[in-house]
Amino acid sequence: GRMIVTIDGVAASGKSSVASGVARALGIPYVSSGLLYRAATLLGQEAGLDLNMTAPLLACLREHPLRLEPLAAGNRVWLGQRDLTPDLHSSAVDRGVSVVAAQPGVRTWVDDQLRALTPPFVAEGRDMGTNVFPQAPAKFYLTASPRVRAERRSRERPEDVAAIEAALIQRDALDTTQSAPAPDARVIDTGPLTLEQVITVITQQLPA
Ligand code: C5P
Repeated sequence: GRMIVTIDGVAASGKSSVASGVARALGIPYVSSGLLYRAATLLGQEAGLDLNMTAPLLACLREHPLRLEPLAAGNRVWLGQRDLTPDLHSSAVDRGVSVVAAQPGVRTWVDDQLRALTPPFVAEGRDMGTNVFPQAPAKFYLTASPRVRAERRSRERPEDVAAIEAALIQRDALDTTQSAPAPDARVIDTGPLTLEQVITVITQQLPA
């Protein structure tokens, strides 16, 4: 049917791997909202913009439209023929993205693109269950301790675990206003669970 499953959570809680696995189990696409915030950040950085200023950033995004491709195997973001995806998980984008995502104008730009997608899909981010798809019938919120998340992420970043953990704690603090579990979300501590176990917990909770 037209099912929307929302999976929100803190930075590096495993949201995109979990969303991808749940989507594969259901045979539907998943949508990574964070990639759009990351792509807006990269575009602003490459254009040399002050990331605190909404108007020039939105003008830049109008001139250079980005397209989120919600592939089941992994979402991609395109700028014309250029695939931005490989550049979206750098530490520079990690550092800039919260400031970009805190701006209401940028959030509207992302939300409009997400709401234009045709269900069914699994939507992953910070505010999918609270703000973008409050009507979704199945909502989840993933947590894990900063150390566990830093250890997972250290396999994808060049910095050491302590530096990654410090950056994650800082990004959590900057993201708190846009990241909270919906009242009807099931909160899952992924710390003691494997990826497959988290996927199973979620798929077993879904309405028939
Ligand atoms: O999920 P990911 O870590 O890739 O998201 C990158 C950043 O995008 C987050 O740190 C947050 O600032 C922002 N974000 C957001 N709302 C979402 C998804 C991501 O503010 N729904």
